[in-house]
Parts: sequence; C-alpha cells; structure tokens
Amino acid sequence: MRELEPLITEERLRARVAQLGREITRDFAGQTLVVVAVLKGSFVFVADLVRSIALPLEVEFIGISSYAGTSSTGVVQITQDLSRSIEGEHVLLVEDIIDSGLTMSYLLDNLSTRHPASVQVCALLEKPARAKVRVPIAYKGFEIPDEFVVGYGLDVDGKYRNLPYLGIFRAP
Ligand code: IMP
Ligand code: MG
Repeated sequence: MRELEPLITEERLRARVAQLGREITRDFAGQTLVVVAVLKGSFVFVADLVRSIALPLEVEFIGISSYAGTSSTGVVQITQDLSRSIEGEHVLLVEDIIDSGLTMSYLLDNLSTRHPASVQVCALLEKPARAKVRVPIAYKGFEIPDEFVVGYGLDVDGKYRNLPYLGIFRAP
C-alpha cells in the first residue's frame, strides 16, 4: 500500500463523525433507529457513526453492486438483502460517498417499497460536481472535489479500505 496524498485526516474524520452522531441523536430523540449501511464502502464509517449515536438502534447491511463495474449507469443489483423488515421503522441509510447519486436514488426507491416510517440519508462524502440526480442528504460529512478517494472504507479494486484517513488516488 503506497502513501497517498491525504484529503481528510483521521482527526478531521473523527471530529466530523462525532458531530454527525450528535445531530442524529438530537433529531431522532425518543425514537428507535434502523441503521442500514451500504456495503462494502460504509463499513468503517458506520462503525464509528453508531458509536456516536446515543439512541436505541439496530444495524443492518445491504450489499449492492453496479453492473459492469461502472457507478454511473444507475443499474444496481442487490447482492445481499436486509435480514429484517423495515416496515414502520425509522431508517437511516448510511453510504460512504455519493457521486452521480444514481446508486442512492435506486436504493431510496427500493427501500420505500418496503413501507418504512421514514428514510433519511447519511453520507460521509459527496462530490457535488458529478451529481446526475439530486439525492436529499440529511446528514453529510464532507463535500469533496472531483477526485477519486480511498481509505476509511473506500476502495480502488477492493484495496485501500484499511487506510485510516482519506487519500487521493491517482494512477501511478
Ligand atoms: P454513484 O451511484 O455514482 O453515486 O456511485 C456511488 C458509488 O461509487 C459509491 O458507493 C462508491 O462505491 C463508488 N465511488 C464513487 N466515487 C468514489 C471514490 O472517489 N472512491 C471510491 N469509490 C467511489
Ligand atoms: Mg459504495
């Protein structure tokens, strides 16, 4: 694993995630949450986020893959589904990064057919320059420039997820 130019340090990640957790705790006071993490990219983020939320909650995972390895077609396949019903539940959908928005848009449509009480999106990162569809992001960690980033759960070809900070990946 080579060293990468850092975009967001561990310290900034930690502080911002804790802040998001406090906002969520305040907004959902008195309620129980089902946190739905989108695999695989959000696994590090969600692990930190849930430990900053002081509410009763359950964690669920949904696995998805974009066809043909492209994230821009919006044709998404569910590779691993939720293990429980979300009917009548308050869902917090947690994603690592929103790029074109097509993946999130598909997931929001899909989850809404299951009749949750509410669904809010929490995304660590957004690349506004690349948005193709508007996705309402209730909780957003950082807006980032149009660069390919890895680390803190995000990958390139499956690698770099274990990098503790967010780095900019440029082909060598
Ligand atoms: P969208 O459907 O275009 O919004 O794609 C979102 C998905 O593309 C994310 O869940 C990531 O898996 C992937 N992705 C987009 N940008 C990056 C990046 O900079 N680094 C790593 N993965 C990315
Ligand atoms: Mg992803």
